[in-house]
Amino acid sequence: MAVGKRVALVTGGAAGIGLAIARRLARAGYDIAIADSDTAGAERAAQELRGDGRQASAIACDVGDRAAAFRMVEMAAHALGDVDLLVNNAGIARLGPLASFPEADWRELFRVNVDGVFFCCQAVLPRMQARQQGNIVNIASWNGKLGAPNFGAYSATKAAVISLTQALSREVASHGIRVNAICPGIVAGTPMRAQVERLGEAFGLPPSSERAKAIPLGRLARAEDIANAVAFLASDEAAYMTGQAINVTGGLFGFRMSS
Ligand SMILES: NC(=O)c1ccc[n+]([C@@H]2O[C@H](COP(=O)([O-])OP(=O)(O)OC[C@H]3O[C@@H](n4cnc5c(N)ncnc54)[C@H](O)[C@@H]3O)[C@@H](O)[C@H]2O)c1
Repeated sequence: MAVGKRVALVTGGAAGIGLAIARRLARAGYDIAIADSDTAGAERAAQELRGDGRQASAIACDVGDRAAAFRMVEMAAHALGDVDLLVNNAGIARLGPLASFPEADWRELFRVNVDGVFFCCQAVLPRMQARQQGNIVNIASWNGKLGAPNFGAYSATKAAVISLTQALSREVASHGIRVNAICPGIVAGTPMRAQVERLGEAFGLPPSSERAKAIPLGRLARAEDIANAVAFLASDEAAYMTGQAINVTGGLFGFRMSS
């Protein structure tokens, strides 16, 4: 569905799921700010979208840095106009059993996956509240509802994102702002997936091609499956939805699996 002039800010939009979200939202008519710590990747993505006739802007940003997150929102507004839709997609993965999980990895996971979402929300909210409209979609994970072995720290960050989504949605609903989360299952073909496959091997986890056999819909997720769900939640067709954490998992849920 095409929208009027609207601006979406997608964090981690240089690659993987974030890039698919940026492309999908551009198709829906949004102008797109791509914010990523990978500056060159963000610029490449923005160029691609501009080539397709959208306005797009690349912003170098580490979302776990509060000042940088606030600068990012200012820059997006300066380049494209006030942000109507924030997609908190930037995230990282670290694997390992909790008993021996390194403190540095724990802190970095929370800094990017939780602080990052918190700071970016804080940065967009003043203008959204002033305008009495806005939309936030946070990319969590099915692990945030389940807590899988070797994904304990990562799962805890994503549970925090779900909880933040629920609380924030109730705080800002009266301002006309909706806040939802998507909980993707196993998404193939992204740089994170390649990293998780490598790390998972070291912990004796089966490859995701093996795990796909347990997915009721019979395949791993594509980044586009997640992007379609974001586009729906962002649209006016989801006008009565807020505070939700929607699974996009091919039916995979609720039984023991190592992510
Ligand atoms: N791939 C999966 O199977 C899967 C499953 C469930 C949830 N997720 C979540 O979806 C999101 C995207 O996953 P993906 O597989 O596309 O990851 P990815 O690693 O392939 O891409 C993530 C993007 O975020 C950027 N990024 C990383 N740290 C950043 C930071 N501090 N500031 C700004 N940008 C940063 C990276 O440069 C990259 O462009 C993540 O939040 C991830 O936890 C992924």
